[in-house]
Amino acid sequence: TVLIIDFGSQVTQLIARRVREAGVYSEIVPFQLAEAAFHRLKPKAVILSGSPASTGDIDSPRAPQAVFDAGIPVLGICYGQMTMCVQLGGRAESSTHREFGRAFVEIQKDCPLFAGIWSEGTRHQVWMSHGDRVMDMPPGFEIFAKSPGAPYAVFGDIARNFYGLMFHPEVVHTTDGARLIHNFVHKVAGLGGDWTMAAFRAKAIEEIRAKVGSGRVICGLSGGVDSSVAAVLIHEAIGEQLTCIFVDHGLLRQNEAEEVVTMFRDHYNIPLVHVEAQDLFIDALEGEVDPEVKRKTIGRLFIETFEAEAKKLGGADFLAQGTLYPDVIESVSFSGGPSVTIKSHHNVGGLPERMNMQLVEPLRELFKDEVRVLGRELGLPEHFVGRQPFPGPGLAIRCPGGVTREKLAILRQADAVYLDEIRKAGLYDAIWQAFAVLLPVQTVGVMGDGRTYEFVCALRAVTSVDGMTADFYPYDMEFLGNTATRIINEVRGINRVVYDVTSKPPGTIEWE
Ligand code: XMP
Repeated sequence: TVLIIDFGSQVTQLIARRVREAGVYSEIVPFQLAEAAFHRLKPKAVILSGSPASTGDIDSPRAPQAVFDAGIPVLGICYGQMTMCVQLGGRAESSTHREFGRAFVEIQKDCPLFAGIWSEGTRHQVWMSHGDRVMDMPPGFEIFAKSPGAPYAVFGDIARNFYGLMFHPEVVHTTDGARLIHNFVHKVAGLGGDWTMAAFRAKAIEEIRAKVGSGRVICGLSGGVDSSVAAVLIHEAIGEQLTCIFVDHGLLRQNEAEEVVTMFRDHYNIPLVHVEAQDLFIDALEGEVDPEVKRKTIGRLFIETFEAEAKKLGGADFLAQGTLYPDVIESVSFSGGPSVTIKSHHNVGGLPERMNMQLVEPLRELFKDEVRVLGRELGLPEHFVGRQPFPGPGLAIRCPGGVTREKLAILRQADAVYLDEIRKAGLYDAIWQAFAVLLPVQTVGVMGDGRTYEFVCALRAVTSVDGMTADFYPYDMEFLGNTATRIINEVRGINRVVYDVTSKPPGTIEWE
């Protein structure tokens, strides 16, 4: 294990992903819990993350001293470099000259961290984002790279395997960043690449069997990647002890329900209960315009429906969920204040207590991209594994204003045309999420010789790494024009198409 101590950087999760991509398991802990985690996990190497804090602040966070005394490699990134510097007897200072964004480092001396990628005298692009700077290096340290703004861009002590980087190797803008982390893990720490999804699959199956024994497990399928991969994995472990429940709330996209049912029943032979609850949900939503009420109604009905079906099956001992690592990581907060609810997310969170079930969450250690690799490993079809995220409340939150059967049908068609165009243009994988929204607004148009008075369809497409922030996708105008024409020609009920150019923040990805 590589232990990553989080000091509150926005990009700490990327460090963990890069380490795992190098084939080594990594875990993130907030600095407040680092001491205990260090003794429990006995990591073979430690990485110290960046932070919004400054080493000059009163009570600024530190790494447990044990990390430096254990004789294992330590990599400090940005703030991590500063605290390493200070804790090992050097000096750092907050600087009025803050450096952000692209910078170039010049290599002063070769070291194992640079093996096979960087050599003395060469220049490389990195991504800086820091305020503090090193004034004096700790004893035993030397400089390996500098940049115009950072004389200690890379420093370290080869004998003790301590390295500090002033820039962020975990972000893609540091061109060779992934390879630097690979080198730290393989060349400096000498760790092998035993973290593979094939190995994970075997281990997870053993763990599921040990946990579940002869118990019964139910799993709610949403049609998304996470719950599907969890279900297939659990089925591989315990076969018919697993039953899947698919609550069809009538808010799915075109053909989605059939695809899920066919794949699980026919392809995988997994026992599946297909609950046709479309009327229940749509009747309850009809006329409701408040987004939060819509979300809460869907969440409540989902739980009630799921619970009723589980009871019909005679109950179960375990509830399987596709919880991922980002949901589990404890986050570092400096502000400490309560965060406001922007949207009530729909999930099955309340169920296990209500129904007295234990949880099985076989994906708890994985990032989304790892779940996709595992899905491929398990033989799930590529078009399914590579799916863009889709929200639990489905099309209801893409129909601002009241939801009606008629509007859902229009939206479904428009969305299908839009996604078809995206696939044809080869853009599907470059986009985090793309979808149509049916606005509760009618506008005047002219088609043929006649006047039309129909709905407006808004198209949304964003790029994002984690859904927390997002940018609108910069289509070319020809693509947008062609897509708009197709939607208006093929979908009765829409006579105008607009494109949403809002990023997140200030917008959110979904409209409700
Ligand atoms: P927002 O709209 O908050 O969305 O920017 C961020 C990401 O979360 C998805 N989303 C949901 N996913 N249940 C889910 O499972 C929900 O209730 C829900 N609401 C939003 C959204 O599609 C985007 O990927």
